[in-house]
Amino acid sequence: MASLPIIVAPDPRLKVVCEPVETVDDAVRKVLDDMLETMYDAPGIGLAAPQVGVQKRMIVADISRDEEGHNAYIMVNPEIVWESEEVLDYEEGCLSLPEHYAEVTRPERVQIKFLDRNGKEREIKVSGLLSTCIQHEIDHLDGVLFVDHLSNLRRSLILRKLQKFKKQQQKKAVGA
Ligand code: NI
Repeated sequence: MASLPIIVAPDPRLKVVCEPVETVDDAVRKVLDDMLETMYDAPGIGLAAPQVGVQKRMIVADISRDEEGHNAYIMVNPEIVWESEEVLDYEEGCLSLPEHYAEVTRPERVQIKFLDRNGKEREIKVSGLLSTCIQHEIDHLDGVLFVDHLSNLRRSLILRKLQKFKKQQQKKAVGA
């Protein structure tokens, strides 16, 4: 397994609608394993393939705390097939928008259809933080970031700050 670099917004690679995975083979499993390692390393509770430059419909999530041990969700071609009318407000963050957080309102419970690591079709119902997290990751597969759920003003403010942050990082990298 390898930990991969995470793309920071604003970046056109985070705005792409990703393609479905055709076959869950060893190459796909390798990417999924690398995504898991990248997420744990960051550390974060979820990661979508486009965040590491792979424009395929794959996500990983794990909301358990370290002391509870890992409980990873690995989903290929995830699809929301049902959502509750009840909603949940949650202060979201994103590994592609470091240091920025904002409250986003989403359905409290969703049912997801997906392929597991072995390519087997599965369906689960999730609620609370795990539901928020998985919906956030599925958004990534359609080029949607959590800031896209905010007002234009709020979104452009955060993206401008990140642009500035990226420029500073680049300067540091070249030693300027
Ligand atoms: Ni994210």
